[in-house]
Parts: sequence; structure tokens; C-alpha cells
Amino acid sequence: MQEYTHGYTQREAVRLNDQANALDALLHHDSVWERGSMILEAGCGVGAQTKIIAPRNAESHFISIDISQDTITQAEKLISTLGIKNVAFRQADIYELPFENNYFDHVFVCFVLEHLANPPEALTELKRVLKANGTIMVIEGDHGSAYFHPESVEAQKAIQCQVAIQKRNGGDANIGRKLYPLLKAGGFHRINISPRMVYVDDSLPDLVNGFTRNTFTAMIEGIRDIAISENLTSSEIMDKGIKDLYRTAQGGGTFCYTFFKGVAQKP
Ligand SMILES: C[S@@+](CC[C@H](N)C(=O)[O-])C[C@H]1O[C@@H](n2cnc3c(N)ncnc32)[C@H](O)[C@@H]1O
Repeated sequence: MQEYTHGYTQREAVRLNDQANALDALLHHDSVWERGSMILEAGCGVGAQTKIIAPRNAESHFISIDISQDTITQAEKLISTLGIKNVAFRQADIYELPFENNYFDHVFVCFVLEHLANPPEALTELKRVLKANGTIMVIEGDHGSAYFHPESVEAQKAIQCQVAIQKRNGGDANIGRKLYPLLKAGGFHRINISPRMVYVDDSLPDLVNGFTRNTFTAMIEGIRDIAISENLTSSEIMDKGIKDLYRTAQGGGTFCYTFFKGVAQKP
């Protein structure tokens, strides 16, 4: 996890919140567990998803962990400000969870596996703390699914810089399409993968701002300097790519991206 990684700067915190707000209904209308569940949220970051899923499951209890104490502190503040009472936070490593075997009824992981060097190992550890018949819910993006109008070679190159940087850091920005094989290899069963496509045009101003501008393009803009300093591309291509991504958020522009949501059961 290096400096570009989501959750580490104030700008990233704002971006993660914009993303969660914009995608609330699409990603979370079915993030619902039976009352009284004990749920582990692994890699909670600044609490952008916590603030949506915890009130939606007000009679369940969440333990939300993250490796970064800094993001935990921000998440705690957010959740307390919102008056949400059913979440406890704890600093912990997803590879070495401080919980007994079979402790949780359900596990929730969102936009975390894509940053990990070893997702199968993380899934093994998450499965260890999950009760038999308990479920894991995983949500990830896939940058290969980004297409838009007007088309732009430079914008696609800029996106590929993000993919390359994430790969260099041990992650995988195209992990969404791999959720099924990952969960299968991890020994989960009853796997259900549901692609969630975000489609944005200028008749949807909330998504134009919340997703195209403030989530996706802001993420690519956030790696501009690193991409250039690492000679992944030129400043001309990067700047044109970013400009073209913003253009898709203007009159007549359109933007598509697909997230993948997987739910599977521990046998
Ligand atoms: C992109 S953020 C997503 C945060 C949140 N789930 C959301 O969707 O807004 C990824 C988070 O994973 C956390 N993370 C990375 N490696 C981790 C590890 N080994 N154990 C626990 N958390 C980790 C990071 O600190 C970061 O907060």
C-alpha cells in the first residue's frame, strides 16, 4: 500500500465518500443480513461503506477493521457524528485477524482485495473467522470495464497507468472479473456474482458528479504525478486523458463502469 492508495489522503477520504454515496442503491440495496448478526467489515477505510450498511442493518452488530489506524480514527469520528451505535472499530490486519475461528455470522469486504498482494490468503483468513453456513460479501471494481463517449485513446492510457501502478503495488485493478474463481478456489460454495453496471449521462446529474467526476476521474487524476514521474506516460497524454474523462461528464457524454458483487457461503 503506497501513497496513492485510497484512504490515505484527505482527498481520497472525500473521494471514497463520494463513491459510496453515489453508488449506495446500486451496490447496497441488498447488503442486508438477518437481525442479530455479528458482521466483520474488513478494510473499512474511512467508514464510507460502514455509514451505509450499519444503519441498514441496525439490529446487527459490526466489527470494522482496517490496517491503518489513521483511517480507523476517521471512520470512528464519522460514525459517531452520524449517531450510529452498532459498530465497533479495531485496527487489524486482514491476513492475521485477532478473532477466534467461526466467530462471525457474515463478512463484508469492499474495494479491499484489489489492493492486496495475496487475495487468496486474505480469503482463507476471512473464512477462518466465519461460521459454517455464514456468508462472505465481496465488492470490487474492474477497470477493464470502463468505456465512455466521446472515446479517447489518451483516457484509456491514463486508466492503464492506474492499473499499472496498482499492479506494481501488488494489487489488481481488474480483479472484479476474478471474484468467482477466487471464491471458488477459496473453498466457498453457493457463489453468486452479480455485475453492477453504472451508466451515467447528463440526464443523471448526481451520478455525473458523484461517479464520473468525483469517483472515477478523481482517482485517475490522483495518480497523475506518480504516473509521469515513473515514466508510465507523458504529461501530455496524462493531461489529455484526464481532460477527456472530464469531457465524458459534460453535455452528451456518457460513462460506463461495472462493479462486481459476490456473495458466497462457507460450507
Ligand atoms: C480503497 S480502501 C476501501 C475502504 C472501504 N472499504 C471503502 O470501500 O470505502 C482499502 C482499504 O483497505 C485497507 N487495507 C489494505 N491492506 C489491508 C490489510 N492487510 N488489512 C486490513 N486492511 C487493509 C486500507 O488501509 C484501506 O483503508
